[in-house]
Amino acid sequence: MTLLVTGGAGFIGSNFIFYWIKNHPEDRVVCLDKLTYAGNRATLAPVLEHPSFRFVRGDICDREAVDRLFWEEHPQAVINFAAESHVDRSIQDPGVFLEANVLGTQVLLDACRAHGGVRFHQVSTDEVYGDLPLDRPDLLFTENSPLRPSSPYSASKAGADLLVLAYGRTYGLPVTVSRCSNNYGPYQLPEKLIPRMIVRALAGKTLPVYGGGENVRDWLHVDDHCTALDAILQKGRAGEVYNIGGRSERTNLEIVGLICRRLEVPPEQVVHVADRKGHDKRYAIDSGKLSQQLGWRPQIPFEVGMEDTINWYLDHRYWWEPLAGEV
Ligand SMILES: NC(=O)c1ccc[n+]([C@@H]2O[C@H](COP(=O)([O-])OP(=O)(O)OC[C@H]3O[C@@H](n4cnc5c(N)ncnc54)[C@H](O)[C@@H]3O)[C@@H](O)[C@H]2O)c1
Repeated sequence: MTLLVTGGAGFIGSNFIFYWIKNHPEDRVVCLDKLTYAGNRATLAPVLEHPSFRFVRGDICDREAVDRLFWEEHPQAVINFAAESHVDRSIQDPGVFLEANVLGTQVLLDACRAHGGVRFHQVSTDEVYGDLPLDRPDLLFTENSPLRPSSPYSASKAGADLLVLAYGRTYGLPVTVSRCSNNYGPYQLPEKLIPRMIVRALAGKTLPVYGGGENVRDWLHVDDHCTALDAILQKGRAGEVYNIGGRSERTNLEIVGLICRRLEVPPEQVVHVADRKGHDKRYAIDSGKLSQQLGWRPQIPFEVGMEDTINWYLDHRYWWEPLAGEV
């Protein structure tokens, strides 16, 4: 089949393209990416010359360009990673998040409809559920938890999720949605917590932690996210939402502490800064539905994945140094 991957020059999309080409050599993969500040064509260098791969620079909001690409490639499935993805940026400038994340998704859905009911998968986030209290470790997000997004980013993702499900219900489009916890791994832009702390630690800079650093995130290695998406694309039921999580909850301070120990950074380098507006306290995800129905389980223990990730950043300065800027 031909699989259209949008946002494939970003962190998770690029890892997914490497994964798919390796594990599904019979398929053709077409990547559509606008190359915003977050997209990097150089990340895709290992596959750019691959005979089953095509890179197209373009905006998912550009109806004409998307339609042209559908006529050229006739994809049987679309997986949508393309999004503005940084919460802090969404607090500064929400408009671009609504455009890319909601209206862009609508353009893709319309193209899927117009081209005979193409299979569509939306890559979403656990942040659509809002947050959980720190003192109730027994609570986890399930697919039935109410949507209570806290930031313009998560609100735009929740809006897109609802639109995708509505296209499934109204037009019978074969859609699925996945909501994943925080990812880590290679090729993540240094504006996000883990690479930012690694890059700053290596530069001898302070490691700024929001508030007391007690906010909890559930971490999943990006390769485990890719295997979950594969299971959903192949076996997921149309109209369904699947949570994806690692059951690897860590406070932000624990993450920073782990990086400090590994890179031998003195604890004085960690500083506490004013908290993010509307900062979600805790995310924790129940991915029991995905395990029970599609047989998926995460394979990479957090400590192992973090060791590999830190080593990757140590070995790939050429990749992140041009992107590190003022992080
Ligand atoms: N990073 C995480 O921890 C995480 C967790 C759960 C879900 N997600 C979701 O996964 C997806 C990918 O996240 P990421 O961390 O790889 O993001 P990223 O910011 O690293 O990459 C986003 C990619 O989308 C492209 N893009 C943005 N707007 C576009 C547009 N209008 N048209 C075409 N391309 C466009 C960018 O150029 C970039 O290559 C997002 O939808 C995000 O909401 C991310």
